[in-house]
Formats: sequence, C-alpha cells, structure tokens
Amino acid sequence: MSFKTVPLAPDRLNRSELAVPGSNTRLFEKAAKSAADVVFLDLEDAVAPDDKPQARKNVIAAIGDVDWGQKALAVRINGLDTHFMYRDVVDVMEQAGERLDLIMIPKVGTAADVYALDMLCTQIEAAEGRKKRVGFELIIETALGMQNIHEIAAASPRNESLHFGVADYAASTRARTTSIGGANPSYAVLTDADDNGRRDSHWGDMWHYAISRMVVAARANGLRAVDGPFGNFSDADGYKAAAARAAVLGCEGKWAIHPSQIALGNEVFSPSDKDVAQARRIIAAMKEAEAQGKGAVSLDGRLIDYASIRQAEVLVKKAEQIAAGNP
Ligand code: GLV
Ligand code: MG
Repeated sequence: MSFKTVPLAPDRLNRSELAVPGSNTRLFEKAAKSAADVVFLDLEDAVAPDDKPQARKNVIAAIGDVDWGQKALAVRINGLDTHFMYRDVVDVMEQAGERLDLIMIPKVGTAADVYALDMLCTQIEAAEGRKKRVGFELIIETALGMQNIHEIAAASPRNESLHFGVADYAASTRARTTSIGGANPSYAVLTDADDNGRRDSHWGDMWHYAISRMVVAARANGLRAVDGPFGNFSDADGYKAAAARAAVLGCEGKWAIHPSQIALGNEVFSPSDKDVAQARRIIAAMKEAEAQGKGAVSLDGRLIDYASIRQAEVLVKKAEQIAAGNP
C-alpha cells in the first residue's frame, strides 16, 4: 500500500439509484416505498424550464413530508451554467429539512465547479445551523468533466460518488448514438474469414473506457462509482448486461430511470450467495495457510494469496453491508 491513506466516503448502499422527476409528485410516495437504495429527486433534465420553480417547491416539501425510510435521499440540482442552480441550492438547503443526504451535481466540468458548490453549501449550513453535512454526487457526463475527473473527484470532502451520465456524455463527445446507454452494433470488429468464408461481428462496449476511467478516479479518492441510465426500460436483459459489466469493473450500482429497473440493479450489484460462500472459503483457507507459516496455497487447484483475501473481503463486506441496510 502507499503511505498515503485515502479517507473513504460514508458507507452507503448504492446498488439502485432511482431517478424521480421533481415535477411529478404522484411518484414520490411510490419511490419512497420502493426497494431503491438511493432516490434522487430531479430538478434538472426531467423537468421542463417552466416547471422548475414548482418542482423545486415540490421537492422541498417532499424531503420533509414523505417517509423515506432508510434510503439515501438526493436532489439533482441544475447545472452551473444555468440561472436555476443557485436558487436550487439556496432554497433546498434553506427550506428543506435535515433529511436530505446528498446534492447531485450534473455536468461537473472542473474542480472549481465542485469548490463553488462546496462554498455555497458550507455557508448555508453555517447560517442555518444545519447539523448534517450534505454530501455530493457528481455526474461525469461531459468531455471536460472526463478530462478533469481526477481533480474533480478530489475537489471536496463532501464528495461521495461519481456517476457516469452516458446520455449527456454521448452528446458532449459527439458519439454516434441515439440510445441512452447500452450497446451499439457499429462499435464492433469484424473477424477474418474462417475456412468457410464466414466472418463474425464482435460487438464491443463503447462505454468501457469512460466507465473504467471513472472507477479509477472514484476509488483513488475513496468514492463510490455508479453507472448511469439505461434508457430502454422494456429491455430487462439489456439492463442486466449493462449493470453486470459495470459491476465487474468496480461500480457499486446503476441508476434506475424506471421502477422496473430497481430490482434488476439490486440483484446484479448484490454478490450471489455462491460468490460470498466462495469468498469465505478463500479467507478461511488463507487463515489456515498463515497459521502454517505459508503466504500462498492452492484451493480447488487455483493459487490464492494475500491479494485473494483482499478480493474476498470486498465481497464479504458488501454482503454484510447489504444485510445491515443503509445506516
Ligand atoms: C444523465 O444525466 C445522463 O446524461 O446520462
Ligand atoms: Mg445528464
């Protein structure tokens, strides 16, 4: 390990993060009763400009009035390039109760964007005597944000998670796609012809680089990495495949833009009983090896060593966190 220690963000479950438009009050109670680990009430892209002032009022009322149970509760404010942003922060932080856990900042481009929000929140918290420090969820969804991702991730002790906003990221990078997330048949390689002249097209994951880069920036700064939306909510298999590949790379969860995606996210981002049992076996085998003065042993014909313990502990800790629920 490096001599530098990285403080970890608060340990929240973040397997499914449900997006709820702030303009649609009918959805609030349902969202609160859902199985989502995190709910974000949206003031940004799901709300039309004329509806924004009312949506802000709805969200402020709902933070205090609705029983959100153990969920982490967030509000997605408007971007720093809009005049809606300052009032989102001021009104929500001044008028909403302490139940608010997180502010989600969209389209973060530079560390200074985070700094500005930190300053504003710090002043309001002091002026209002708020006891709970609000955390930040940062959406990386522009080329600028991706370029500056490491500085952004380190920009505030309020930072808790980085989110990959695939839709805006595609627009910002001018990627040739019209869907929100998912695979694209044009992002493929063609194999050479086999003996029968047959060639296969192998689809790649056009988001691999962006998600991997986000995971590194998040983890290097003690933050959670969360994959963003998957627009085709009729395609459960597509969602699960997208979630699984994000989980394999180190993401802790994925957005749900439709209630049907909550269970899928919770399932994919929970280690299976089989994986947890195997992780416990690895830890037990290594403890036994250590007692015998060995640093590496074989288990089921495979090498395991101290790094295997660290991998196994990630799974066991996640299973324990899920069993305990959100703090
Ligand atoms: C989310 O905000 C996205 O743009 O994908
Ligand atoms: Mg976006």
